[in-house]
Amino acid sequence: MSTFQPAGELSLAPRSGDNTDEPEEVGATGRPRRHVPEPPLVNGHGPAKVLAMCNQKGGVGKTTSTINLGAALTEYGRRVLLVDFDPQGALSVGLGVPAHQLEQTIYNVIIERAVGIKDVVIRTNVDNMDLLPSNIDLSAAEVQLVAEVGREQALERTLRPLLPEYDYVLIDCQPSLGLLTVNALAAADGVLIPLECEFFSLRGVALLIDTIEKVRERLNPNLDITGILATMFDPRTLHSKEVMARVVEAFGDTVFDSVINRTVRFPETTVAGAPITTWAPRSAGAKAYRALAREVLAR
Ligand SMILES: Nc1ncnc2c1ncn2[C@@H]1O[C@H](COP(=O)(O)OP(=O)(O)O)[C@@H](O)[C@H]1O
Ligand SMILES: [Mg+2]
Repeated sequence: MSTFQPAGELSLAPRSGDNTDEPEEVGATGRPRRHVPEPPLVNGHGPAKVLAMCNQKGGVGKTTSTINLGAALTEYGRRVLLVDFDPQGALSVGLGVPAHQLEQTIYNVIIERAVGIKDVVIRTNVDNMDLLPSNIDLSAAEVQLVAEVGREQALERTLRPLLPEYDYVLIDCQPSLGLLTVNALAAADGVLIPLECEFFSLRGVALLIDTIEKVRERLNPNLDITGILATMFDPRTLHSKEVMARVVEAFGDTVFDSVINRTVRFPETTVAGAPITTWAPRSAGAKAYRALAREVLAR
């Protein structure tokens, strides 16, 4: 005979086998987790919401978050396009695409108008997730664009024909606030800022926000900060918790409740050329990016 269990506080306990890292009410941000509704189902697709994954500091998890948020969004039935907008091509490589061997990349679409964007988009090994690849050629675009009329809107013009086909376009920015990043901000509806839980992480964020505000005033009045994502969090160290407290103090509700822990599984996925949601679908990292996807869908 089963005993009656009231809903309410008991339902906060993790389901058996759920193995979550944070069964307690207070999340890794040190705040209670806010309620996130179940994402609504979609019938058709588009027009896409464009998010720029942006932080001029390198190694903070921009590329990792682009791949894994994208893959998690597809699990909720969304069609996703990932745009590699860093000449290093790490996003392409992280999806197993040998970007340095490609004849045509986003560079050719932006600079040579004869190349059609739909010929450059490639499918990834994740269903419903496509990629606009790039490689080192893109670094030349930054120089060549300087002399162009409307140089800040080159990416926005390039992406426009694709927007009806996707629900989300995620742009993986390079670690700088140069012309390529400004193009990404001009093309975006929102900015997602990955922030490493390390001592100097807040340095430079004021400059980034300043740049976002300038782009909003001068080029793209619709641009919003979608959220700040704490990455590389180590729940065992006081240091990580202190940095987290400062981030929450500085940015409040903009900080996602979903937090990405530091784990060697992410570097492993890069070698595997697959997102963590398929490489280690039951891992804490995969769950964290799914939780982030739900928050993004709700914002
Ligand atoms: N949560 C994490 N824990 C541990 N390593 C991570 C995590 N996220 C990313 N990494 C690793 O850190 C390095 C930098 O991450 P990356 O996403 O490329 O940052 P960015 O694009 O901001 O330069 C990569 O080797 C990546 O595999
Ligand atoms: Mg990167």
